[in-house]
Amino acid sequence: MDLQRLPRHIAIIMDGNGRWARERNHDRLYGHYHGVESVRNIVEGCAELGIEYLTLYAFSTENWDRPEYEVTGLMELLVETIRKEVSTLNKNNIRLHMIGDMDMLPDYARKELNEALEMTSRNTGLNLIMALSYSSRWEITEAIKQIAADIKSGKIQPENIGQDTLHQYLSTKNFPDPELMIRTSGEYRISNFLLYQLAYAELYFTPVLWPDFRKENLYEAIIDFQRRERRFGKTSEQLRREISSEG
Ligand code: FPP
Repeated sequence: MDLQRLPRHIAIIMDGNGRWARERNHDRLYGHYHGVESVRNIVEGCAELGIEYLTLYAFSTENWDRPEYEVTGLMELLVETIRKEVSTLNKNNIRLHMIGDMDMLPDYARKELNEALEMTSRNTGLNLIMALSYSSRWEITEAIKQIAADIKSGKIQPENIGQDTLHQYLSTKNFPDPELMIRTSGEYRISNFLLYQLAYAELYFTPVLWPDFRKENLYEAIIDFQRRERRFGKTSEQLRREISSEG
């Protein structure tokens, strides 16, 4: 792995907890509990490498439709894990962020999560972004509503809307776009996750189920990322010329 060419921002769809549990004849929550171990391991791995941003898809807007016991169990697990881990986050200078529809969360969860955000808000190391009750279409719809409101109130003019305007209205406006997106469990989809932000991301899919995913698997993904040539719509020839002129 080339430590000089790490992705600044890694985004992960943590998939396969349910299947992992079923293979062991347990219920789905058992898989989510073990998924937390992988979260710890991967957050630690990213912090050790000096990755600047890690976004984890912890709960999608669509996940609200799962059986009630699973939704409640997952919510409690998320809140309890974050409560337990805040001191470790602080010790490691990790700052927590949330993206998603916080209004959908039960009051106790919103309150606890807001406290954790505040308690880690002065940390300057890894930015750990939890996508919770998040979906990209929800986010883009909210952004458009806000843009429309700002046009109505005269704050912005339609003719001044540029490529950067939508970006400024997304919940990710303070973060660079992910350069590497990882999805576990052998599914080849983006599933309503950061649709706008992943425009130029390298996509990495692995059959490993999330509860089995560890630092070694993360390193493999990063090595694969580094092997790829990121062209941003340019030709290989142009890129080579740019690199040689940088000296
Ligand atoms: C997808 O597996 C996983 C989820 C919907 C939840 C992810 C949450 C965790 C790993 C717990 C996270 C904890 C923290 C602190 C972030 P699935 O249930 O869709 O699996 P399946 O596709 O095999 O059914």
